Amino acid sequence: MNQAAPTFEQFAASRLVSDRNLITADWVDTLSAQLSVDPRRVLPHHDLLDHIPVVLARAADFLLVPDPEKLRAEQVVTDEMRDIARLRRGQGFGVQEIIREFDELARLLDAAALRWLDEYPGVPDPKCVGRVFGRLNRVPLLMGQITVGSVEEERNSLLRQLALAEEEERLRLSRELHDQMGQLVTALLLGLRTLQHGPTSAEQSATIAELEKLADRIAREVQQLALDLRPPALDTLGLPAALENLLHEWSARNGIETDLQSIGITGERFPAEVETTLYRVAQEGLTNVLKHARASHVSLLIERRGGTLSLILEDNGDGFELEEVLVAPDKARRLGLRGMRERVARLGGSLEIESSPGVGTCLFIRAPVPAGELATGAAQ
Ligand SMILES: Nc1ncnc2c1ncn2[C@@H]1O[C@H](COP(=O)(O)OP(=O)(O)OP(=O)(O)O)[C@@H](O)[C@H]1O
Ligand SMILES: [Mg+2]
Repeated sequence: MNQAAPTFEQFAASRLVSDRNLITADWVDTLSAQLSVDPRRVLPHHDLLDHIPVVLARAADFLLVPDPEKLRAEQVVTDEMRDIARLRRGQGFGVQEIIREFDELARLLDAAALRWLDEYPGVPDPKCVGRVFGRLNRVPLLMGQITVGSVEEERNSLLRQLALAEEEERLRLSRELHDQMGQLVTALLLGLRTLQHGPTSAEQSATIAELEKLADRIAREVQQLALDLRPPALDTLGLPAALENLLHEWSARNGIETDLQSIGITGERFPAEVETTLYRVAQEGLTNVLKHARASHVSLLIERRGGTLSLILEDNGDGFELEEVLVAPDKARRLGLRGMRERVARLGGSLEIESSPGVGTCLFIRAPVPAGELATGAAQ
């Protein structure tokens, strides 16, 4: 062991301890402060990211590494390969994990400090320094992960709010149509009927009869539009009843046979967002059947099993090549299947599509629901 001037050794020891404390305390404190604001979400924090080069520079400085690039290479490669593999698998870093990283960083810095002092004035153990730098180098990646994760979370939450706002607007329009337009057209119809009973020529009577038919058609179309915009059954009776109405009307309107099966559901309600999403997905699925399938039969199955609500929509139509649709040059213009998938993903659910040309198409939708029953019905 080399002997060094006590003053310098003391200085080095104190500097190491204080720098180590600074580095780890800085990060852990800032992170904990962020976490205590809202433990579920760490928002993008540019100051933190800007701070990283400063921390790295400080660490390089206090370890007095002659060639940090060379020394850290080995460890960095190992660590980063692991991180990248992990990112590829789509797993984020948990907050607890990040805290553990900082603890580990503190431990490594301690070890580096001890060895360095031990071997002073030689070069610090490359492996040890390499590990320290490896850890430090991971910090931006970890912080980036929190940032990326939060941006993604933020985007999802915005999309959910947007979907909610869209449903509210649909509800408002639907009520407006029903209450305002519906009443006006009914008044028009009644007025025409009164006219019909008054003294009119045969010609006038024929015109009035035509106008009555027209007013009647407008009344029915307004009602249908109001129903399509926001089916009242979805709010009052729940998903299976709303789907039953949807299928019934769709079948009558388009002359295609349908059947509905409901398994494991005994009148309970699911969260409003789940009910609305599954209803809209079924609506879009039926529109696709009409547009593309030339089917003669459609089956809809809704099943609750524990914490999962599944919807299966199957037609016996033309089917299609899924791979071809996914790579089609105009795929950007086709929003149906993509929209369905996004909506379901926002609930934490999934959409699978099975289709064979000439056989038909089947959509499998799964959404998580609370395992127990919701006593109060769907909340708006
Ligand atoms: N039930 C189905 N039967 C046969 N083909 C289907 C069916 N559903 C979807 N497809 C095929 O998949 C393609 C993509 O469907 P998607 O709903 O994404 O778009 P789109 O219906 O063409 O347009 P958009 O829904 O945006 O109005 C369709 O163009 C069609 O070729
Ligand atoms: Mg479509």
